Amino acid sequence: MSTERKNIVITGASAGLGEGMAREFAAKGRNLALCARRTDRLAALAKELTEAHPDITVTTKALDVTDTDAVFRVFREFRDELGGIDRVIANAGLGKGQPIGTGYFEANKQTIETNVIGLLAQCEAAMEIFREQEAGHLVVVSSVSAVRGMRGNVTTYAASKAAAASLAEGIRAQHLSKDTAGIAVTTLLPGYIESEMTGRANKTPLMVSGEKGAKALVSAIEAEKAKAYVPWWPWTVLAQVLRFAPLSLVRKLS
Ligand SMILES: NC(=O)c1ccc[n+]([C@@H]2O[C@H](COP(=O)([O-])OP(=O)(O)OC[C@H]3O[C@@H](n4cnc5c(N)ncnc54)[C@H](OP(=O)(O)O)[C@@H]3O)[C@@H](O)[C@H]2O)c1
Repeated sequence: MSTERKNIVITGASAGLGEGMAREFAAKGRNLALCARRTDRLAALAKELTEAHPDITVTTKALDVTDTDAVFRVFREFRDELGGIDRVIANAGLGKGQPIGTGYFEANKQTIETNVIGLLAQCEAAMEIFREQEAGHLVVVSSVSAVRGMRGNVTTYAASKAAAASLAEGIRAQHLSKDTAGIAVTTLLPGYIESEMTGRANKTPLMVSGEKGAKALVSAIEAEKAKAYVPWWPWTVLAQVLRFAPLSLVRKLS
């Protein structure tokens, strides 16, 4: 059952989907704890949001999610400042990568360090707080690319997002019992939404604006769905096609 989650942590809030979701939740009157590496962008966003919505609290902190000790520290500091955390949106992510075996191990490794190890730290830090509170909503941002292995520059990224989806599902399975009824876990699998990351990709008619994407993400989060493709149309259908298509067809799509 869905409860109002008042205090929301968003990682990767300095740009793209994280920034868009922060605007949507601020408009709903929620308190926000925003983090990323670019603190100048976070400060500008916090100023904009508190001027537009004077009743909310917006707090910001520098966080590189690959500094895993810092993830635990920053989440605890956010909890202490806000008097509890009701929802964590583990959104920070990196879309860097090159085909495997072409000499770009460092770029691929950086993607895994951010999207898998950094995500694991966020999940651990969030769940420690939620288990202690006996309540909280963990939202993991995966991707439609998690559904199949992808070629080219997307191979490592897609693998990292498959790990993200599996991690979220495992945590959900762990907390399905009556004893942990206050804890919910949502996996979001976005398609193409305009952001800094997709600004570098090929343009496609399937791309939606950042604002439309953020609204769709927030609506899936508020419904506390177990798993949601976003926007639901056409991605719920396309993901099923992708899941069962022969690899020779899948390779043409990535
Ligand atoms: N846009 C899409 O169509 C799409 C589709 C599927 C999934 N996604 C996922 O959605 C999430 C957001 O992506 P986006 O499209 O909004 O990308 P984006 O515009 O590039 O934003 C990425 C955000 O993550 C932060 N970030 C990156 N590395 C970080 C690190 N090491 N530590 C802390 N923060 C870090 C960035 O902040 P700083 O650089 O300031 O640290 C930025 O705020 C990602 O997980 C991405 O994989 C996006």
